[in-house]
Amino acid sequence: MHWQKDAQCGQARAGWLHTRHGSVPTPTFMPVGTVGTVKGITMDNVRATGAGIVLGNTYHLMLRPTAERVQRLGGLHRMMDWPGPILTDSGGFQVMSLGPLRKMDEDGVTFRSHIDGSSHRLTPESSTDIQYKLDATITMAFDECPALPATKDVLEASMERSMRWAARSREAFIARPGYGQFGIVQGGTEQDLRERSALALRKIGFEGYAIGGLAVGEGQELMFSTLDYTTPMLPEDQPRYLMGVGTPDDLLGAVMRGCDMFDCVMPSRAGRTARAYTERGTLNLRNARFAEDTRPISPEDDSPMAGRYSRAYLHHLFRANEMLGPMLLTLHNLAYYQRLMRQIRAAIVAGTLEQTAAELRQNWAKGDW
Ligand code: GUN
Repeated sequence: MHWQKDAQCGQARAGWLHTRHGSVPTPTFMPVGTVGTVKGITMDNVRATGAGIVLGNTYHLMLRPTAERVQRLGGLHRMMDWPGPILTDSGGFQVMSLGPLRKMDEDGVTFRSHIDGSSHRLTPESSTDIQYKLDATITMAFDECPALPATKDVLEASMERSMRWAARSREAFIARPGYGQFGIVQGGTEQDLRERSALALRKIGFEGYAIGGLAVGEGQELMFSTLDYTTPMLPEDQPRYLMGVGTPDDLLGAVMRGCDMFDCVMPSRAGRTARAYTERGTLNLRNARFAEDTRPISPEDDSPMAGRYSRAYLHHLFRANEMLGPMLLTLHNLAYYQRLMRQIRAAIVAGTLEQTAAELRQNWAKGDW
């Protein structure tokens, strides 16, 4: 697996990620397919939005249907009918959100399943092995993501443990052509901790570098200022993945600070609750004002459903609790995120990102057409 840079505009980079399962233009947004499905839509539909790579989750898949069963079913790609690249998160972040159901020690984490309460354990070695069995194109190092705000002592101890876990994850990783593993920079919003973390990961050596521990309640301004000093600590010629981010405005700002890859549940989750992303900000299609609005959700839509369904129809579907509502709006929102990434990439290549960014922000602020 390798990343090739095509163009740079300020700190923003346009490139290609080449993998065993195909090549993807970057910057790229990865739809979240936690349990082996991008909820509610087929992978043909995901492909039709322009997505090139999707995300899966170690934590959920190890519990059900289990990594061994996924492996017997021919791997995640075959099981979910997605021949393209798949990145799997390592489980540390998902286990964190279990709260009192988990117990962390130097070797790993013991936790109770949110499904049936059964006890399980994840270590850097077992997480890496599970991701191998899933046949992840990109494996993530096993890390710990502390909630912010946290004291510097807490952040430091956590980051140092994550770096020891990163070395063990790398040791357990079985290298194969076209596959790769990313390390995850931690350290909260402390510059010296981020520096030590980035240095430790570069010394181990990965095919790409993720920035973790952000978008956990610190706010956009602190996230951006952290990115301002963190991305320059990472190799110029390798991909950078900002984990769990974000809104369209977050993505734009992060690309302008040198990030290449993103994932977030926002567009798909919002789609299930009637919230539509558009060039003019978001709309809540449950709102009564859409009951007889015959316009498409967005006149600038170029997705597979463009022009086929009115706001009034979507409004009706949500009010009637019909499953087609969440399905269509998930598709719409993912298509919007892909459209945004294409616009940003084209502007990087053309050298006009500053101007495009100003236009995008102006339009988001305008409100509905
Ligand atoms: N997803 C969002 N943030 C993180 C993080 O810090 N670590 C991991 N593993 N996944 C994440």
